[in-house]
Amino acid sequence: MNNQRKVVVITGASQGIGGGLVKAFRDRDYRVIANSRSIKPSSDPDVLTIAGDISDRAVAERMIKEGMSRFGRIDTLINNAGIFIAKPFTAYTTEDYASTLAVNLNGFFHATQFAVAEMEKQGSGHVVNITTSLVDHAIDGVPSVLASLTKGGLNAATKSLAIEYAKRGIRVNAVSPGIIKTPMHAPETHGALAALHPVNRMGETSDIVEAVLYLESAGFVTGEILHVDGGQSAGH
Ligand SMILES: NC(=O)c1ccc[n+]([C@@H]2O[C@H](COP(=O)([O-])OP(=O)(O)OC[C@H]3O[C@@H](n4cnc5c(N)ncnc54)[C@H](OP(=O)(O)O)[C@@H]3O)[C@@H](O)[C@H]2O)c1
Repeated sequence: MNNQRKVVVITGASQGIGGGLVKAFRDRDYRVIANSRSIKPSSDPDVLTIAGDISDRAVAERMIKEGMSRFGRIDTLINNAGIFIAKPFTAYTTEDYASTLAVNLNGFFHATQFAVAEMEKQGSGHVVNITTSLVDHAIDGVPSVLASLTKGGLNAATKSLAIEYAKRGIRVNAVSPGIIKTPMHAPETHGALAALHPVNRMGETSDIVEAVLYLESAGFVTGEILHVDGGQSAGH
């Protein structure tokens, strides 16, 4: 088996930012392990799809095990699967709370544990967490404490893991998006959402993909939370 080519694991890979990441890494000749609940098998022999809920530890374990047996190495993990529920604080249901924590935090925890265990054996690796600039700059009119609670945790965990693994060749970074044009946002909301950014436009999937690719190539960068948000985190 030719296992010299790099291998990236991407969660939430069926559409939106995750779909853009799959294409960009394939364009760079990476082999890809792509997860989401509804993802379909790929006709590309260099894409292994693993269908399942990433908050389920057994799915995360299968993703890394099957990826290792197919491609022989894990170079990069992108924790991209995430859900976003914007509601006034007291309107959140216990189901909203449980599902947001499950995908955004449990998904990160399980996938990262299994991937980092392989990276440690190889002595190299890179983890990228996709968070949100709402963590740094809450927006009046977009109440979304569960996004801040979970993605804020990921920002903190990014720094913590970056330091824990810095001497073992594993880098850990985050990309913190503004509001990005993906299926997450209905087209009729785009005008209002654009106005929430100092640059007066929403981001494109390619804006986030380029940031991830930069971090992937930036060997001296770890523990970084790279804001790609049209100025949102800087102020309004
Ligand atoms: N779009 C934005 O404005 C924005 C802003 C800030 C941060 N982000 C973050 O960027 C990431 C990607 O967002 P996006 O806009 O591309 O979202 P999206 O278009 O809604 O896509 C979400 C992806 O995650 C998958 N997914 C959802 N629940 C999952 C689960 N339990 N297990 C595995 N996969 C799951 C979905 O596929 P299935 O339905 O097949 O599972 C889909 O592929 C998220 O973490 C989001 O929080 C987005």
